[in-house]
Amino acid sequence: MDSDVIVGPILDRFHRDLARVNGLLGSFQTVERFLRKDDQPIRRVLDIGCGGGDLLVYLRRKMGVEVTGIDLKPGRMNDVPVVVADATREMLPQADVAISSLVAHHLTPEQNIALIRNVGQSCRRFLILDLIRHPMPLVLFSIFLCPFIGHEAAADGRQSIRRAFTPEEFAELVREALKGTGATFSTDVSPLLSRQVIDIRYRD
Ligand SMILES: C[S@@+](CC[C@H](N)C(=O)[O-])C[C@H]1O[C@@H](n2cnc3c(N)ncnc32)[C@H](O)[C@@H]1O
Repeated sequence: MDSDVIVGPILDRFHRDLARVNGLLGSFQTVERFLRKDDQPIRRVLDIGCGGGDLLVYLRRKMGVEVTGIDLKPGRMNDVPVVVADATREMLPQADVAISSLVAHHLTPEQNIALIRNVGQSCRRFLILDLIRHPMPLVLFSIFLCPFIGHEAAADGRQSIRRAFTPEEFAELVREALKGTGATFSTDVSPLLSRQVIDIRYRD
């Protein structure tokens, strides 16, 4: 889906398929559960690489937060404000928390480090949800999710799992990004290795 030829209706279909994958994985509920574990009020949320904006629609409805999407190549948006920007290097709007779901594996380690540092300029917390490179999620995705999504999205999903970081690799690059800043982070890995969540706290 990073290709320049994936635009218009094909891109919209990708985002619809991704919304289905997120629904089957329970990603939105996972993000909500993490967001609710916060000592401070959350009023404004950014979604980095928001795609079609479904996560923000969900969070606005469930948590009453103000939402803004950031994407280099947004899909057809669901009534959500979106800023077209490269989140690894352009200034982002101020918010309490940023989230990114299924974006990290599209970026190189250096781009992820740049993204983590850049988000720290405008948010006090960053939740990164992504896939895990491991044979188990590859097999489970092929058997249980591929039958419900389009052919292109199925191929893209398998490629995404192969490109994803292991939790150890990701933790290493987060440590590098945060070195010397005093920020802290934790990693949560789901039992079937379907996803990892990295919870970065830049400041209290
Ligand atoms: C696989 S989609 C995920 C969409 C959505 N977060 C979801 O979970 O369905 C990855 C998205 O990240 C966006 N993206 C990739 N690199 C980006 C960057 N440097 N800055 C902003 N958005 C980026 C892509 O345009 C794409 O919409």
